[in-house]
Amino acid sequence: MADIRKEIEKRRTFAIISHPDAGKTTLTEKFLLYGGAINLAGSVKGKATARHAVSDWMEIEKERGISVTSSVLQFNYDNYCINILDTPGHQDFSEDTYRTLMAADSAVMVIDGSKGVEAQTRKLFKVCVMRHIPIFTFINKMDRDAMDTFELLDDIEKELGIATCPINWPIGSGKEFKGVYDRESQKIHVFSDTEKGTKEGEDLVLSMDEADGVLLEGQKEKLMDEIDLLDGASAEFDQEMVDKGELSPVFFGSALTNFGVEIFLKHFLKMTTSPLPRKADVGMVDPMEDSFSGFIFKIQANMNKAHRDRIAFMRICSGKFEAGMEVLHVQDGKKIRLSQPQQMMAQDRKIVDEAYAGDIIGLFDPGIFSIGDTVCMPNHKVQYEGIPTFAPEHFARVRQIDTMKRKQFVKGIEQIAQEGAIQIFQEYNTGMEEIIVGVVGVLQFDVLKYRLENEYNVEIRLENLPYEHIRWIENEQIDMDKISGTSDMKKIRDLKGRPLLLWVNSWSIGMTLDRNEGLILSEFGR
Ligand code: G4P
Repeated sequence: MADIRKEIEKRRTFAIISHPDAGKTTLTEKFLLYGGAINLAGSVKGKATARHAVSDWMEIEKERGISVTSSVLQFNYDNYCINILDTPGHQDFSEDTYRTLMAADSAVMVIDGSKGVEAQTRKLFKVCVMRHIPIFTFINKMDRDAMDTFELLDDIEKELGIATCPINWPIGSGKEFKGVYDRESQKIHVFSDTEKGTKEGEDLVLSMDEADGVLLEGQKEKLMDEIDLLDGASAEFDQEMVDKGELSPVFFGSALTNFGVEIFLKHFLKMTTSPLPRKADVGMVDPMEDSFSGFIFKIQANMNKAHRDRIAFMRICSGKFEAGMEVLHVQDGKKIRLSQPQQMMAQDRKIVDEAYAGDIIGLFDPGIFSIGDTVCMPNHKVQYEGIPTFAPEHFARVRQIDTMKRKQFVKGIEQIAQEGAIQIFQEYNTGMEEIIVGVVGVLQFDVLKYRLENEYNVEIRLENLPYEHIRWIENEQIDMDKISGTSDMKKIRDLKGRPLLLWVNSWSIGMTLDRNEGLILSEFGR
């Protein structure tokens, strides 16, 4: 038991999120470099990233094995066992990010110092705030000309509605970048370009006076003024507020040149938390409980095209997991044996024999799991609260081009929907003939089309529908025929047969409620 406790205590499980190109991959690589998990940075994934999001996604699809293996990584550093969860960098996939955040205990937000919070990322970062987990900010690319530091912090506070607390402070940027000032020790960590970060950096730390020869003219005065201002104006560090996700500790650095990465890692690991208790039907479940339990937060099919396999990613919430153990799949009510669970280590996937609360493992899924499902010991049943489905904002009717391939089409679209990449609906009174797809971001339409063609050999045509608003009908017993709506309203059902309403205009929702007494609508599908 003592061993299990020790293992769980040293775990740190966090998601890393950023706008494409802000440096998430580079930072992750540098973490691995410090953890000794890779020898040379630059090997996590081929650098064909998001110039253009769609083509990027397809590129990633081509390299699926690689991109997926790097989506969950585990490595050891300084007696910690670290699990990093990668998230898609485009806000059209913010639902995916939300699910990943459900499996994390904290989040690291990477921001490009020259750009601040970018328009496309706003929504992505906001889902982070919705989860109320600690959020740490790494402001990257300080070796390039950056925005004014106060402006950067202001931007984060305004955009995300979260207070910031700089743990260190940059001295210059771009060609004039000289390092960071550590507010606690009041020392300066001097910037050095460690051969573009292929080596771990040697940290030169100087006192303010010793740094005179290093800083450019006027930099010291500016720094002292800024620190004075900061001490007066910014929020003080408060661990409790950090824990609640109300205050984000901010760090500055340059992932590419390796500067500031280890300083960040060291502080971050101390400030972030070991696996947190999780809410279940029986109350909060302590990770230290000896009975194993976990939930599925992500499903990915066809990772290996040749095998048509499907992997369900599980976050272990309590106890110790052992390969081959017999567990209960709560939603199905069936006992199953989890053989060949996988874990991702840098570029490799490997079979794991054991894993602990906080860890993420990949389970072979013969099509039984859904997102949000609980797995636990048969004699110790718990059920974790589900993961809400985001309301889709874009809708299209799907037409199959070759109607002979009906079976593949239905199978493909259902499987992709089970992964949570899209949501499918039917017309309220016709059957499966007419399929309506709803997505949170339009990019998911491209993904659907691409995947149906490539994985299921089915060509489709999408006809955009004008609806933008969707609500689930909570009182399902209501007679759908009797609902009197507005002229822009459409009645549909989801795959489970639950009734829903679609509207073009948001004001029609209120009008529909007014016209139908007792109607209860919900923004989330459960
Ligand atoms: P992402 O995963 O968030 O999309 O970003 P990624 O790490 O792929 O970084 C995007 C680009 O920014 C890369 O350049 C990377 O080298 C560069 N970069 C990352 N961190 C820093 C930094 O601290 N300073 C500077 N100056 N650049 C940084 P690229 O040209 O797209 O790729 P590559 O050809 O250099 O590999």
